[in-house]
Amino acid sequence: MAGPRIRRLRDGDVDRAVALTDLESWGYSPADIRRFLALSKKGCFAAEVRGEVVGVLATFAYGRVAYLGSVIVDPAQRGRGIGDAMMRAALTHLSASGVETVRLNAYVDVVPFYERLGFVKEYDNVRWEGGRVELAAEVVRPARRGDLERIVAFDEAYFGARRDSLLRRLHEEFPRTFLVSEERGEVLGFLVGNTSAVATEIGPWIVNPDRPDAGRALFGGLLATTDRVAFAFSGPEPNPRPHAFAREIGYREGFRSVRMVRGPSASEGRPEGVWSFAGLEKG
Ligand SMILES: CC(C)(COP(=O)(O)OP(=O)(O)OC[C@H]1O[C@@H](n2cnc3c(N)ncnc32)[C@H](O)[C@@H]1OP(=O)(O)O)[C@@H](O)C(=O)NCCC(=O)NCCS
Repeated sequence: MAGPRIRRLRDGDVDRAVALTDLESWGYSPADIRRFLALSKKGCFAAEVRGEVVGVLATFAYGRVAYLGSVIVDPAQRGRGIGDAMMRAALTHLSASGVETVRLNAYVDVVPFYERLGFVKEYDNVRWEGGRVELAAEVVRPARRGDLERIVAFDEAYFGARRDSLLRRLHEEFPRTFLVSEERGEVLGFLVGNTSAVATEIGPWIVNPDRPDAGRALFGGLLATTDRVAFAFSGPEPNPRPHAFAREIGYREGFRSVRMVRGPSASEGRPEGVWSFAGLEKG
């Protein structure tokens, strides 16, 4: 069999990319894939075999650190080196763009695939899923454009890098469910509810570790803002707060994933402030 052709993902691939990710029930909408392309046109890849897209992968670079995700190969084409070829193309692209550290969140059973490419484990993440719950609607409000500079700076302390364009784009797309909690002008936390798919995917959800009350308030604010019935979020295990909260509100544990890193352990951020990192691709 001829090897795959690895090329950049294009606008015309959006439906095929959604169809592939639907096979793993990742819940991506066309809007999600279009956002990947808008934020990282050169960092999203497709694998083609005989003219058909059989794999996709996305990367997002923030200076010297990048996140990689949404790695998927058509089940009929697995085990033939396509995933490996896409990964190597992506890693070559990132290193040529000055990226030294690459992170990702891997399914537990895919960890060896990434280990052979030089990734090592950092910590576990836990995903939570559930419906509407009774929570007091606390005082949080939709973020305004004028808040974004402060939110980007707050986020950087916990995420470990400036996510200016991602956060601005999410604010444009989800103005009602991009919520901020603040006190006397100081940001205590923010949350983005991605309502583009069936279940509302929560994240980024970043909270000052000394103020878990702000984490609750943001969740209550989201419930008050939307009539959605299904919610999901994934948080790092080193931060016990979102997991305790999820148990308290009766959410069920979904799958676990493993946060991995390749290259110098830079821009680690502070996971103790991360309540949810959103999709597997966004860190
Ligand atoms: C993970 C995935 C992308 C791998 O793609 P692929 O094209 O099948 O992988 P390759 O054929 O390039 O495999 C390269 C090497 O990794 C190994 N490998 C692949 N998947 C593996 C796994 N889950 N566990 C252990 N080793 C694995 C292969 O055996 C191969 O090693 P070899 O060269 O020594 O034989 C693919 O299985 C997939 O789409 N899975 C479902 C989606 C998913 O889980 N994505 C990852 C999300 S974190």
